[in-house]
Amino acid sequence: MEVKLLTRNFENPESWTLAAYEKAGGYRTFPKALAMDPEAVIQLVKDSGLRGRGGAGFPTGMKWGFVPKGTEKPKYLCVNADESEPGTFKDRYLLEKDPHALIEGIIITCWAVGIHHAYVYIRGEFGLPYYRLRDAVQEAYDKGYLGTNVGGKGFQLDITIHRGAGAYICGEETGLIESLEGKKGQPRLKPPFPAVIGVFGCPTVVNNVETIQAVTWILEHGAAEYKKYGTEKSPGTKLFSVSGHVNRPGVFEIPLGLPCKTLVHDLCGGIRNGKRQKANIVGGSSVPVLTGEEADQVDLDYESLAAAGTMLGSGGMIVMDEDTCMVWTLAVILKFYAHESCGQCTPCREGTGWIRNLVYRLEAGGGTAQDLDKLLSITKNMMGTTICVLADAAAMPTESFLKKFRREFEAHAGAGRCPIRGASSHFLTAAH
Ligand SMILES: Cc1cc2nc3c(=O)[nH]c(=O)nc-3n(C[C@H](O)[C@H](O)[C@H](O)COP(=O)(O)O)c2cc1C
Ligand code: SF4
Repeated sequence: MEVKLLTRNFENPESWTLAAYEKAGGYRTFPKALAMDPEAVIQLVKDSGLRGRGGAGFPTGMKWGFVPKGTEKPKYLCVNADESEPGTFKDRYLLEKDPHALIEGIIITCWAVGIHHAYVYIRGEFGLPYYRLRDAVQEAYDKGYLGTNVGGKGFQLDITIHRGAGAYICGEETGLIESLEGKKGQPRLKPPFPAVIGVFGCPTVVNNVETIQAVTWILEHGAAEYKKYGTEKSPGTKLFSVSGHVNRPGVFEIPLGLPCKTLVHDLCGGIRNGKRQKANIVGGSSVPVLTGEEADQVDLDYESLAAAGTMLGSGGMIVMDEDTCMVWTLAVILKFYAHESCGQCTPCREGTGWIRNLVYRLEAGGGTAQDLDKLLSITKNMMGTTICVLADAAAMPTESFLKKFRREFEAHAGAGRCPIRGASSHFLTAAH
């Protein structure tokens, strides 16, 4: 069952233009917000139970409430449009298809928190999403929805779009802030959290694109209406980007709590060529993998997924059929994390490379069965020991792959070649 709250305009002709957005009822919600007391807007978002859609699932209204009141410093909003987690491609659709809904969400958020300057930090590789957003921001300025007198209500707001340079770590909120300030994108130690000391040393709200876009819908329809979707503890909808061996990959907006089985086997048309689902990474490459059987039992909400030992993450679902080599899959995932480590913390800088190399060797049919324990020992020392959770993002999938597909790893050790894919893959060299 798909629900179209955030994706409601996707099918409209030229949905990304101001004319199409206004025709669909756009820019009629923010005046309602601007007529409210900012605290009441925050309360409404709290009441909706909206949780951040960038990965961590932190309650949005609560985060806004942490920004100090009555400070002399300017406050900022950073919209996180970095979207680099492998498997995740939902924000790009929101930006491409409905950039004005994001701008309206930004206006509402900034009013609620008392912000006059918002940044959108957008993934450097994004072409069309960037051009669409850039043009939409210009249209909004021309129409007076941004600038010195937003919507004629005397509120001042500017939006600056900042293009990244292609580093995954700049999606981590404090890495993003450093990068925005013109420095190397290296995460900061927390606390202090960005809500207190963020960009340029000032209080900053960092929210994902989907989160901010949900704010527009919530203000338009109310918290109670939003809570009609989803579960009691995970209200609302979530965009899942589904890739891999399904018949119909793509972006699907579903109510939280929908059985994973419904998404994979109904909305996505099941596994290609009538094959069996061997594994499913439900929330993006950094979350623990589920076996196909586990995936068919689980519901897609924060609590059910935590109970199943995994996470909702950013909703980047990767489905794998029975022909997939899990050692090769893990090797590809680890290649990414080793490459993207910013290098500040020894357990991450060294650990991601060590586990990548051990898994490369196993995939090539080398190594020994002892390598499996060595891998687990390294991952244990990586988790919870670093400045940000990129180290955990590499360690958690590794642990789960070994736990759930251990026999497959053992069959590789010393086999001389990958028993599933045959010849060892040419790209699996430590030099990469
Ligand atoms: C390594 C790493 C990469 C991240 N990448 C992204 C990203 O691309 N987009 C995003 O919204 N959040 C990303 N996050 C999460 C952000 O740090 C932050 O929690 C989020 O932007 C907060 O917004 P939300 O509360 O609306 O989810 C990443 C976190 C880590 C540790
Ligand atoms: S955990 Fe890794 S990516 Fe995060 S700050 Fe440390 S070295 Fe950088």
